[in-house]
Amino acid sequence: MFDFNYFTPTKVVFGKGTEKKVAELIKEFGGTKVLVHYGQGSVIRSGLLGRVTALLDEAGISYVMLGGAVPNPRLSLVYEGIELCKKENVDFILSVGGGSAADSAKGIGYGVVNEGDVWDLYDYKKKAKGCLPVGVILTIAATGSEMSSSSVITKEEGLVKRGYSSDYARPKFAIMDPELTMTLPDYQTACGCTDIMMHTMERYFTNGGNMEITDSIAEGLLRTVKKNALILHNDPQNYDARAEVMWAGSLSHNGLTGCGSDGGDWMTHKMEHELGGLYDVAHGAGLAALWGSWARYVYRDCLPRFKKFAVNVMDISGEGSDEEIALKGIEAMEEFYRLIGMPTNIKELGVDPSEEELKIMAKKCAIGVGGEHGSAKRMNEQAMLDVYRMAAGR
Ligand code: NZQ
Ligand code: ZN
Repeated sequence: MFDFNYFTPTKVVFGKGTEKKVAELIKEFGGTKVLVHYGQGSVIRSGLLGRVTALLDEAGISYVMLGGAVPNPRLSLVYEGIELCKKENVDFILSVGGGSAADSAKGIGYGVVNEGDVWDLYDYKKKAKGCLPVGVILTIAATGSEMSSSSVITKEEGLVKRGYSSDYARPKFAIMDPELTMTLPDYQTACGCTDIMMHTMERYFTNGGNMEITDSIAEGLLRTVKKNALILHNDPQNYDARAEVMWAGSLSHNGLTGCGSDGGDWMTHKMEHELGGLYDVAHGAGLAALWGSWARYVYRDCLPRFKKFAVNVMDISGEGSDEEIALKGIEAMEEFYRLIGMPTNIKELGVDPSEEELKIMAKKCAIGVGGEHGSAKRMNEQAMLDVYRMAAGR
């Protein structure tokens, strides 16, 4: 095993009606002037935003509002938020919505505190020295941004999607009411479950430092999300299933399922970020469209882990060679994606990149990871192109 730091400072307030605590929590973390940041309107339609602003009014907390964070949130809105926060002397950002609003909130928080162009952080040109405190009211279980150190932003110019991570951006609190996720379309619920599983799978398929305790937590989490994703596919109003998935989303990306490992593989994510940047697809669906191809490309280099995954997560019986068992596990995962309505290749994702575009994605991805990346198997630009081609059916 490897040494590790485990830092999860986010106060989690979980359960029905917990959004009622929002004003109290903002005060607890020193917020006096708040930017309320949200997406494209689901929180208006559900009535949540109205309830939140009424609570802030009641508590005498002043605030300004900024909506418009889109899936694959844009840099231009981050710039707008930074200007607004500076002009209004905002000292706390409240994200009401999904990972996109939360990531955009973190980007704004960085931009207020750090001198210069905030994109330089996402472009790996400099490191953050701080971030405005961020709190989250979560409406979709997916990214884990409500506890994670990451923020993923897309720069419109060149359609470059990049993530930046630092502990400064870990939210101060996360209000998680599973009932708030019941208005999600089935597709978004499935995208969320896919992303949640993938955050643990990225950490699981490695060639270094794995610990039994971490594996047990990871496998339990994966089995739980798989089971409850299927329940939600047929019964979207099932509170307990919503709750299981929501909590799993946070635990899957707060570092817990990677303790002791070499940090994980992350190539499916890196490659999806190029797809998301270029075609604006939903992140979870993009991951599902790539994973099977990635897995078939790398599994021989990480065979014990793929076998363990097949047996302990996908319930494949122990008969056959290690390679056969590993492949059955990959097939079973793809079958699970089909059952919840997720794509298993780029065509099913609904986009049709040309050979030239596949090359552009591989090139941008290789630049984004500094040449090569991966733990299940190290991948360079050519390997990335091979996987994109497989996923595109070439
Ligand atoms: O924008 P609104 O109107 O709110 O609608 C959203 C959006 O259309 C809708 N939605 C959210 N909650 C809803 C709802 N609709 C009805 N009822 C509700 N309760 O769902 C759509 C997706 O929302 P979004 O916030 O975009 O989803 P998600 O949480 O999956 O975030 C995706 C973004 O996060 C990044 C992804 O790359 C993508 O840009 N990621 C962030 C990570 C992090 N910060 O740690 C890690 C991830 O790997 C990921 O890269
Ligand atoms: Zn993800």
